[in-house]
Amino acid sequence: MANKKIVVGNMKMNLTAPEINKFLKVIEKKKYNNQVVFCPSSLYLPYFIGKGYDVGIQNIAAYENGAYTGEVSASQAKSMHLDYAIIGHSERREYFKETDEVVHQKISLALKENLKVILCIGETEEERDSLKTYKVLKKQVTNALKGFDSKELKKVTIAYEPIWAIGTGRVPSNDEIQDTISFIKEIVKGIASINISVLYGGSVNEKNITTLNQIESIDGYLVGGASTKAEKFMKIIEVVVNQ
Ligand code: PGA
Repeated sequence: MANKKIVVGNMKMNLTAPEINKFLKVIEKKKYNNQVVFCPSSLYLPYFIGKGYDVGIQNIAAYENGAYTGEVSASQAKSMHLDYAIIGHSERREYFKETDEVVHQKISLALKENLKVILCIGETEEERDSLKTYKVLKKQVTNALKGFDSKELKKVTIAYEPIWAIGTGRVPSNDEIQDTISFIKEIVKGIASINISVLYGGSVNEKNITTLNQIESIDGYLVGGASTKAEKFMKIIEVVVNQ
C-alpha cells in the first residue's frame, strides 16, 4: 500500500503570538494521524509540541553547537522532540546564500540526530525557460544527498518547489509535476536504490488542492502562505487526509 500523504505547513516568519494562539484554537479540535507537520517560527514550536502535533523546524544551523549567535542546532531541535527539519528552502538559498555544500552539511547534522529531513529543491523561472529544470534538479539532489546510505536516505523527503511558483499563485500543470516528481525519484533510485517520497510545494491552496491531489506519484505538499490561515489550511488537510 502507498504511504499516506503528508501536508507540511511552512509558516515562515509569519504570525505574532496572539495570532498563533488563535490559529491553535481553530485547528486543535482535529486529529491528523501523523499526516500533518506544523513548521511555525522556532519561538512558537513549544506550543505545537505541547499539543502533541508533529512539528518541524524551518532551518537548522550548519554547525554542531557553540558560539553561533542566533542559530538553532539539530541536537537542540531533537532535544525538544521535533520530528522534522526543513533544509535548503529556496529562501534560505537565495537570501542567506546557502550553497549545496551547506545544505549537505545541514542534512548530515540532522540525520545524525535522527531528525527527518525535508530537502527543498526547485528551479528558477529563467532556468525553466531555458529548459534547464532537470539539470538543475539533478545537481541539487546529487549534491545534497551524495555520500548518505540508503538507511539514512529513508529519513529524507524531497519537496519539489519551483521557485517561480512560490507565493505567486502560479502552479505547474499536473502532468509537469508528475513528470518532474518521477524524474526526482529516478535520480534518488540511482543514488541509493530507494523509493524516496516527494512533496510538491508552490502556491498550494484550498482551491487547487483537489486538482493537485489527482497526481499519482505525489507523496504530499509543502504549503507556505495557506498554512498561516487556519481555515484554509484545514481545508487542504481535509482533502489530503480524507482522500
Ligand atoms: P507558498 O510557499 O505556498 O506560499 O507558495 C511554499 C513554500 O515556500 O514552501
